[in-house]
Order: sequence, then structure tokens, then C-alpha cells
Amino acid sequence: MRVEINKSIEKDSIKICLINNIPDDIKDMASLLEFKIEDENILFLPEQNKIFVAFEQITQQNIKVGLAISTRKILATNYTKAHISIDSNHSEVVLGAMLGFYKFDRYKSKKTQKSLTLNIISNTIKEQEIIDNQNIAKSINMVRDIVNTTPEDFYPKIMATKAQQIAKENNILCDVKGEDFFISHGMGAIGAVGRASRHESKLIHLTYKPQNAKKKIVLVGKGLTYDSGGLSLKPSDYMVNMKSDKSGGGVVMGLMNVCAKLKLPYEIHGIIGAVENMIGGDAYKPDDVLKAKNGKTIEVKNTDAEGRLVLADCLCYAQDSINDIDYMVDFATLTGACVVGVGSYTTGIMGHNDKLMHRMVKSALICGEYATSLPFNRYLKKQLKSEIADISNTASSRYGGALTAGLFLSEFIEEKYKRKWLHCDIAGPSFVQEIWGVNPHGASGVGVNMCLEFIKSLDS
Ligand code: BES
Ligand code: ZN
Ligand code: ZN
Repeated sequence: MRVEINKSIEKDSIKICLINNIPDDIKDMASLLEFKIEDENILFLPEQNKIFVAFEQITQQNIKVGLAISTRKILATNYTKAHISIDSNHSEVVLGAMLGFYKFDRYKSKKTQKSLTLNIISNTIKEQEIIDNQNIAKSINMVRDIVNTTPEDFYPKIMATKAQQIAKENNILCDVKGEDFFISHGMGAIGAVGRASRHESKLIHLTYKPQNAKKKIVLVGKGLTYDSGGLSLKPSDYMVNMKSDKSGGGVVMGLMNVCAKLKLPYEIHGIIGAVENMIGGDAYKPDDVLKAKNGKTIEVKNTDAEGRLVLADCLCYAQDSINDIDYMVDFATLTGACVVGVGSYTTGIMGHNDKLMHRMVKSALICGEYATSLPFNRYLKKQLKSEIADISNTASSRYGGALTAGLFLSEFIEEKYKRKWLHCDIAGPSFVQEIWGVNPHGASGVGVNMCLEFIKSLDS
């Protein structure tokens, strides 16, 4: 998609209008077509070259959604030009438009390859803000591509190659560790999960280090390029779409890309555990006892609770190899329980620092994502007790699975970092069954925008 500012309006350009009142000149048409002012209602009038999207309130978030809805509609027509007038500095129109215009057609034999030029009519918009929003949109769409790609085409080594490509493009560092490293460094948890796969597991470490960085932030992502469940095999219905179990890793890659592009004044580390959870003679088993990098032993009760095992070693690796961390945030499609608890639109935020959790929730709402904090309590932890090891990888209770998974991770956070750490369970919103907001079917890229807001807010 191309974005232009204040170019003259050509006659075959469609005008995008976001409205919270029906304009007089379309009142008759609107009533004929029963078009009302209700959130996200859409009225397409090709004879007038106009598209209307209704909202009860025109907020920053709704502007984004409105642009996504209208460009998605335009994608299904032959229009190649669109324009919109905005009176104040609403550069998020670019973000909404680019997110709405996204299409994943890698596996279609007929590619549609549509293009759209969006002309923004505004006296106040700043060019740099347009460029920034383009970079945010491109990063989110990159995450969508990563997550939508099939496990046959996207396995741990490809994830590492992709990270190296991001590093090269942005002139940042990328270090990749393989299974030998896990063995020599006592990382028995991540090592076990990927053992039955024909693809070697990788730990990817991206580093963006600008001069005079204000703070040090570590982002950790669950990059399960496929989660079959392992020997605790998932039922068929639950296995479908488990290519999306690499979403957390995708978010971290997207964030590294966008933070470098926006030249944010923070040192940011991105650590991704890229692993495939499979079955086979060499698979790890329920009953195994694993030893993580921090020396803790873990009784495996269910091989489908693999994400927490991968993250445990990644979190330990982060704390051992980076010193004086100011903030540590992990992203993972960790539990079905989180989806049951808060639904498929909302990210569950966990941690030991209410203020920090609240900051992340607020960051989500500002950018049009949904997130809520899920509070730990002192009673939950005993549900992770093991008779034979230090901890069990699943809880004894069927309830509260998002929280017990979060508490499992907490066991791998050093005391001094407990209040600097947040865990984001994105199992619900990371993969979309039915289009909503700025999100198409399939991968959404949620988490990128939320965490970017969070990082930007650290100054204040
Ligand atoms: N990747 C899944 C969680 C998941 C479920 C993500 C649905 C996206 C949509 C995770 O590895 C898993 O299987 N978790 C188990 C944990 C259980 C065995 C304690 C779950 O949620 O059922
Ligand atoms: Zn699993
Ligand atoms: Zn998983």
C-alpha cells in the first residue's frame, strides 16, 4: 500500500468517511438500505465513490478499525485509489489501513496482488508519524506472515534465519544457539521438548543496543513452530491451527524489528525459544524429570504443557546472560485456560507488580487491543507441587490454568527480577477464527502494538 499526503483527488478514488451522524445528502439512501449509526456498520456507495463506516464515537481506536474495515472492503473491489480527510493529527489511519489491507496468499495458486494508494488530506499530519505507523504496520504484518506460514515451511531453523534477516536489515545483533548448547549449559527443559522433532531446536537472541540507552528491556517469546501436544497428543480438533503456537516468538521478532526502525532509546533483547513439539521414539514423556538451567527439577505430567518448559530455560538464559535488566516481558500462547477465562479477544497479563501489569493493560487499551490482568494469589502455588521433583509442569486442579502456568514461569524468575517481570498469555487473540477489528482471519499479530505502547510509556 502506498500512502500519499494532500495529492489532488482523482475521479476514480474512493472516499473513506468515518461518521457518527448520517450526513444529510445520504439520509434517503441510508434509510432505504437500513443503514444506522451502530459501531462498524458499513455503507458502500459506488455511484458516489464513497464508503461510510459508522461509529457511535469517533475515537482513536475506532479510526484505526474504521480504516481497516474500509480497506478490507476496498480489497474486494477494483478500486486502486482511496482518500480520507482528517482534521487533526490522526496518523493511525495509516496503521488501520495497512492492517486491514493485509492478505495472506502464500498458498493460493492465484495471487490477487492488489495495490492501493491512500491519499491523506490533512494540514496537520506529520510525515515522520506516517513513516512510523507504516513501520508498525509492516512489523505486525510480518508477524502475521510468520504465524500463518505452515509448520512444513516454518520450523526452528527458518525462524532463526528470519531473525538473522531482521538483524541484518536493522543492523542489530543476532545469536543463535542449538541443541549442543542446551546440553552443555544444563538446559534440560527446552532440550527435552524438541527432542522428537526432525528439526533442531533453536534459541534465538536478538539485541538492539542504541547509544545512551535509558533502560534495559528483555522480551521473551514462545516459538513453538508446531505443538502436536507430544505424547500427551492433542485430539485432532485441538491440533488444528497449532502452527500459531509460535505467536509469542513472532511478537518478539516484530517488536525487535519495529523498535529498531523507530530508533527507540532503550536497549532491547529479544529471546525466542523455537521448538517443535512432536511424537516419536525419542520423545520426552509424562513421568520424565527434567532439569532446567537454574537447577530446578521438573516432573513432566503432560507433554502438552511444553511452552512453560521452553520458556523456563529461555527466562533462565536471559537472566544469566544479560545483567541489570529493568523490565522483562514474555509472550506466549500458553494456555487454553486463558481463552476459556477471558475469551478470544483478550490477552491475560500476569506478574507480581500490579503497577506494571496495569501499565501493560492500559497500553493495550490505548492502541485498540484488549488485555486484562489476572491476579496470582498465595494458594495457587501449591497446586504445582510434585512428590518426586521440585515442581510439576501441570497443576493438580482443573481450574485456573492460566494462572498456574504463569506461576510455573515465576519459579524461573530470580527474586531480584520478580517485580520487573510480566507474562502475557496471548492464546486467545493471537489467532483469529472470525474477522474482528483490524484483524483478518488467521494470525493477528497482537502484542506488538500493546508492548510498543508499553515501552514508549516507560519514559513517563
Ligand atoms: N499451545 C497450547 C495452548 C493453546 C491452546 C494455545 C489453545 C492456543 C489455543 C499449550 O501448549 C497447551 O497445550 N496447553 C495445555 C496445558 C495443559 C496440558 C496443562 C492446555 O491449555 O490445555
Ligand atoms: Zn501444548
Ligand atoms: Zn503450546
